Amino acid sequence: MKTIAGTAIAVFLLFAVAPSRSVVAQDAKKTKAPDAGAIERGRYIVESVAMCGRCHTPWNQNGEGKRENWLLGGPTQIQASYPVPNWAVVEPRLAGRPPGTDEEFVRLLMTGISRTGARPDPPMPPFRMTRPDAEAVLAYLKSLKQ
Ligand code: HEC
Repeated sequence: MKTIAGTAIAVFLLFAVAPSRSVVAQDAKKTKAPDAGAIERGRYIVESVAMCGRCHTPWNQNGEGKRENWLLGGPTQIQASYPVPNWAVVEPRLAGRPPGTDEEFVRLLMTGISRTGARPDPPMPPFRMTRPDAEAVLAYLKSLKQ
């Protein structure tokens, strides 16, 4: 008798708890709160794959970037080995809030087209990321100190 009652309570709890969990998941989707997984994935892409910091972080003469300057932007340090007329002179700050809207940023990383409707000047690479990867990069950049 006791076990039947126990099972009944367990089944009741299962149904009582399960729906509230999925409501929480839906809410998170609606507000697009960046989860820790997305931020970690964004960090991996920025630091270990796309190397955004190689350009968007000021480096010293030994090619070392300081962590306190991380992704703060500055003058373009990488120079072309032959003259390129539209070589950019400044790399914008990415930490905290990259330029433009969220959607413009995601589009830039998915298509290589910037908020101006054209490609950014070289040496900014034309990335072709998936939407989840581009959104993860954005979540990571937003997680950095403004
Ligand atoms: C090889 C150097 C280089 C790398 C690597 C690089 N960038 Fe850039 N990025 C630039 C330069 C230079 C500009 C300025 C282009 C211009 O002025 O048109 C720029 C511009 C931008 C802009 C501004 C675009 C706009 O609409 O004005 C964003 C956002 C950006 N980069 C994000 C990133 C992210 C995110 C990464 C890594 C996933 C990255 N960049 C990697 C060089 C680089």
